[in-house]
Amino acid sequence: MTRAIPNVVSIAGIDPSGGAGVFADLKTFSALGAYGCGVVAALTAQNTCAVTGVHAPPTDFLALQLDTLFADVTIHAVKIGMLGTAGVVRTVADRLAAASPPNVVLDPVMVAKSGDHLLARDAVSMLKEALLPQVFMLTPNLPEAGVLLDARAPESVKEMYRSAERLRGLLPLSSERWVLLKGGHLPGGELMDLLFNGDRMIELPARRLETRNTHGTGCTLSSAVAALLPQRAAQMHPVEAAVRDARHYLLGAIAAAGRLSVGKGHGPVHHFHALWR
Ligand SMILES: Nc1ncnc2c1ncn2[C@@H]1O[C@H](COP(=O)(O)OP(=O)(O)OP(=O)(O)O)[C@@H](O)[C@H]1O
Ligand SMILES: [Mg+2]
Repeated sequence: MTRAIPNVVSIAGIDPSGGAGVFADLKTFSALGAYGCGVVAALTAQNTCAVTGVHAPPTDFLALQLDTLFADVTIHAVKIGMLGTAGVVRTVADRLAAASPPNVVLDPVMVAKSGDHLLARDAVSMLKEALLPQVFMLTPNLPEAGVLLDARAPESVKEMYRSAERLRGLLPLSSERWVLLKGGHLPGGELMDLLFNGDRMIELPARRLETRNTHGTGCTLSSAVAALLPQRAAQMHPVEAAVRDARHYLLGAIAAAGRLSVGKGHGPVHHFHALWR
């Protein structure tokens, strides 16, 4: 029997340059064999150099988009990215609670690669209270881990261990939940991501690829995990398999980013590196 193609939705921001946000997530889903849906939780004016503006959709319309989609389409995984404001966080949390889809991957986007802020301060507590209880996997980078834990961002792999343990404590302890702590902000040529479920700490090392084209690496990784979780469900270690395969896909996309020429800043990764000859 062939497995059904999973339906995956991205609830995130729009980056018109296509390297991050919903557009990048849809490319990732498409490259990895998932059918992509998208709900716009924030609009940005953005290119590869800077974010020049942010616009939040009316929350009642956002709720209508989510309810209308969930009423019709069976969703097998959700990737949540930029939410922007406390009102948007609350709306997404409410509508998600009503639909309770599986495999919710939350990338708690706070700051763009360009350094621009993408989440209001007062939205962080809302995110922790209303959204984290519903999340299957949380994928912060190191500065985001610091904000969520109200602490200094981890600066070494040893400090990442401690942060991953504390981040797991922000998710419900009674059921299977995962933290993927991304070490892209560590200095040096060796990268380390940590995957932790409260029991097993899995080290995911990689060699840093020397490139400026890292716009949307975090978006791409979290949406790759969301696309792959339903497709690896039958494996022995499904979550670990999904994350390893997602990182492998991302590394290929970063390595091939030089084949694209998009903008003068941090260029996008090549989502279709394995498909376009
Ligand atoms: N230069 C690089 N070479 C290889 N892998 C990288 C590189 N930079 C980041 N990664 C990997 O990309 C993923 C995203 O990590 P990062 O810490 O950059 O997330 P992020 O800060 O959320 O990204 P974004 O700025 O796109 O939101 C991680 O798996 C990380 O290890
Ligand atoms: Mg990020």
